[in-house]
Amino acid sequence: MSRLIVAVDGPSGSGKSSVCRAAAKTVGAAYLDTGAMYRAATWYCLDQDVDLDDEDAVALAVESLPLCISTDPDHQVITVGETDVTAEIREARISEKVSEVATNRRARSLLIAAQRQLIDDAGFVVAEGRDITSVVAPDAQVRVLLTASAEARLRRRGLQMGGTQSEQDLKVQVLERDKKDSAASNFTEAADGVAVLDSSDLTLEETVEALVGRIQGAASHD
Ligand code: DC
Repeated sequence: MSRLIVAVDGPSGSGKSSVCRAAAKTVGAAYLDTGAMYRAATWYCLDQDVDLDDEDAVALAVESLPLCISTDPDHQVITVGETDVTAEIREARISEKVSEVATNRRARSLLIAAQRQLIDDAGFVVAEGRDITSVVAPDAQVRVLLTASAEARLRRRGLQMGGTQSEQDLKVQVLERDKKDSAASNFTEAADGVAVLDSSDLTLEETVEALVGRIQGAASHD
């Protein structure tokens, strides 16, 4: 496969990461988790004691962010400078703060430019996030909005967290964060030409199969 861009957006708990990574592996594409980039930027701001309420300071920190992200779906590693932050960026302290960086306009445009470069370098790639179908790669050959009901998303995030979180904590993590993030991008409605894939009643395998089917369909028209 020479060049084929697959853009997938969706809210927290829609299963985007698992579905996109598995689909990328199946079709032999690279995989780009753009949320991990916002998380790494947040990790860096906290590490540098940047005041997240100070928009200029956040933008300045992101300008000098020494970020390296792998696009190998079998080997997801993300480093900031010499530090491997792959696991740490998933911690609650990052999840709680990441929207503050993601809604910073200058930080966003820097990360979007980096994402476009990574997509361009990869050539055949499944890229997922909140604004990939609409802003980062609106010309992608496959554009999908992966949705799921609020109940399904809360259930999945609960399982992901080991079933130890209260319903209220989960609601804050999933629904409140979506509300904050929707200030930066519209990921609840499909833009023109974007196909909606509702995974509420599908298993992970069925959702992956549906996405792989779309990718193979696009590849055969290439
Ligand atoms: O998908 P995730 O939970 O790892 O994303 C982390 C945060 O980054 C989330 O709060 C929304 C934000 N994000 C974004 O604004 N745009 C993207 N393309 C990807 C993620």
